[in-house]
Amino acid sequence: MDQQHILILVLAATAMLVTYKVTNSINPQDADNVIPTGYKKTQSRGDNSVNTGDVCGSAATSPNVSDNLQKILEKKYSRFLYCHICEEFIKLINIHITSNSTFQYFRAPAVVLCSRVSQLAGFGHSICNGIIDTYGPTILYVADQLILDPQTTCRELSFCVPKLISNQQSSKFHRFTQDKPQIQLDYPMSPEMTSKGDKPTKTLSVLQISDIHVDKFYKPGSPSNCDIYLCCHEDVNGTKPAGYYGEYSCDLPWWTVDVLVDSIKQIEPPPDFIIYTGDSPPHDIWKESWKGQLATDRDVIDFLNDRFDGINIYPTLGNHESFPANLYYSPLPDYQQLNRLSLHLWKKLFPLPKDQKTNIKEAAYYTALVKPGLRILSFNTNYGYTFNFYALLNWKNPTRDAQRIFMEKTLAKAKTNGEKVIIIGHIPPGDVPNTFDDYGQFYTNLVTKYSDVIVLQLFGHTHSDQYEMILPDPTEPKASGVVFIAPSVTTFTGQNPAYRIYHLDPVTFVAVDYDQYYLNITKANANHNPVVEKLYSAKEEYQLKDLGPQSFLDLSIRFRSNETLFQRYLRNMYAGSGANSDCDTGCKDITICETLSSSVTSWLTCVSGLNL
Ligand SMILES: *[C@@H]1O[C@H](CO)[C@@H](O)[C@H](O)[C@H]1NC(C)=O
Ligand SMILES: *[C@@H]1O[C@H](CO)[C@@H](O)[C@H](O)[C@H]1NC(C)=O
Ligand SMILES: *[C@@H]1O[C@H](CO)[C@@H](O)[C@H](O)[C@H]1NC(C)=O
Ligand SMILES: *[C@@H]1O[C@H](CO)[C@@H](O)[C@H](O)[C@H]1NC(C)=O
Ligand SMILES: *[C@@H]1O[C@H](CO)[C@@H](O)[C@H](O)[C@H]1NC(C)=O
Repeated sequence: MDQQHILILVLAATAMLVTYKVTNSINPQDADNVIPTGYKKTQSRGDNSVNTGDVCGSAATSPNVSDNLQKILEKKYSRFLYCHICEEFIKLINIHITSNSTFQYFRAPAVVLCSRVSQLAGFGHSICNGIIDTYGPTILYVADQLILDPQTTCRELSFCVPKLISNQQSSKFHRFTQDKPQIQLDYPMSPEMTSKGDKPTKTLSVLQISDIHVDKFYKPGSPSNCDIYLCCHEDVNGTKPAGYYGEYSCDLPWWTVDVLVDSIKQIEPPPDFIIYTGDSPPHDIWKESWKGQLATDRDVIDFLNDRFDGINIYPTLGNHESFPANLYYSPLPDYQQLNRLSLHLWKKLFPLPKDQKTNIKEAAYYTALVKPGLRILSFNTNYGYTFNFYALLNWKNPTRDAQRIFMEKTLAKAKTNGEKVIIIGHIPPGDVPNTFDDYGQFYTNLVTKYSDVIVLQLFGHTHSDQYEMILPDPTEPKASGVVFIAPSVTTFTGQNPAYRIYHLDPVTFVAVDYDQYYLNITKANANHNPVVEKLYSAKEEYQLKDLGPQSFLDLSIRFRSNETLFQRYLRNMYAGSGANSDCDTGCKDITICETLSSSVTSWLTCVSGLNL
């Protein structure tokens, strides 16, 4: 979850170019040499620190969010602290683009300032070269194609608390051109026919694994408490020697991933099929390269394929599979290469219908029949993620809409054929405030329209055990779906490694229950004996009638009055690590709002209605 801080650093660091002149606390010669002429004329607020407690412009123009609520939101979602910095950053970018848009021109001051912000934020400066080299060019590339208004851009990117907006599509950016290239894609659907056949009686078990983030540089005994983003590497400075099996401040070593997979093999009956909701590479994002990312993508998929020989695995693309992590833009050759690799790797995992190859090559989405009557729909969620800066160019990227049309067509056709559908994706639509509202709105409408066809919606990305209601109208207590978010395999950050098994009715394919498993990493390190255990079963844990949307909606309502239940949800969120044990009233109300939100708008409606 914390990965956002790294990107904030990029924004923050570069934004400091603006305040830099005023503070004069960094070598002034550098400043004069690198700051664009145009910049020198701009207004600066004269801040000399990253003091962002200063309420941003957005609060003033967002009458629904009180000052008090604004503070509570900033505490819960630290990215809002960077609102002002983001706005200043966008101003700088605009000036930069018009004076000299080369990366070299931008790099040196950005690195200097990254170091400064990074240290203020409690990270060392050693990651800055890597961060600026990695993300800087993309930020310039994207900005070069837009006319960015600081306030709206920073709201759109969720660095500032968004405004409650009406349902219309966001067209908040001034763009150089409104032309939308037309594309002619095929939406082939295999003519696989549904035949009910003999009535099966055995419950289907479906394993979901998510967010493996394996770290091949994990080093037992290296510092697990360090001054950079990801610890447990030989070359970091710090304290607290890392345990053998893993640490809450680190990604997992291979041997612990192995332990988890071994434990799955002990469970009877074995899974009928497996869902992998993505994110294979580790979080050392200042050290990344295309070569390294693709190598890890390949290693993880090959590993799963090898270890689950004979069981189909249905994957989806995460935000970490690419280089740099979070960025994805299908029109560029690098990402086409990633799509081709995905096709190459994924087709080993399950029988890929021939007509789906184009879709994976286009933008890593597909559909496949698991068995007669049950279909997987896997889609690429990177278009909806605010840390994918390329998504600001979605308006000119035909594959975003192509995928949407494909999803709708797949569901419509499944309905006609009497099939049920499991939707899988990486970033859940209500990963607020990190998703674009437009993604959540699209997804909510789609799922509402096909609620009778969709039996499961499986996501990952947050690393936490969560769920999100699909509420067609956020003010009405009527749910059309529930999104399940499974906790991660990685310990990063604060998690016990986990996986989940759903049990589906063999005829209707409706989920009847799920079992959540975990590895107590503290205990494993202490005893040098890793034992994977069941943490809970959903129906029993939360006293649910069934796993349907109405039952989960009722659970969200019960959380308000039943502290015992809510405490269970908090415990399970981090798979029993105890990471978030203190959650005060504001935190609790907002956490419940998160369970009721599948878009930024529905979340904002919920939090705005809180009596805080
Ligand atoms: C938020 O404010 C807008 C106008 O500023 C108003 O139309 C809307 O009803 C308000 N929403 C809530 C939930 O108070
Ligand atoms: C832009 O900056 C780079 C690096 O400082 C420099 O080499 C180049 O000449 C500049 N270009 C213009 C048009 O000023
Ligand atoms: C670790 O500390 C040494 C000595 O203070 C320093 O030279 C080195 O750059 C540090 N390494 C990192 C990764 O911060
Ligand atoms: C709260 O939930 C727990 C667990 O389901 C249940 O045992 C208890 O009776 C509930 N308490 C109230 C006051 O409803
Ligand atoms: C994990 O193990 C530690 C150490 O044995 C223990 O204190 C803790 O309660 C365990 N956590 C859970 C969720 O059982």
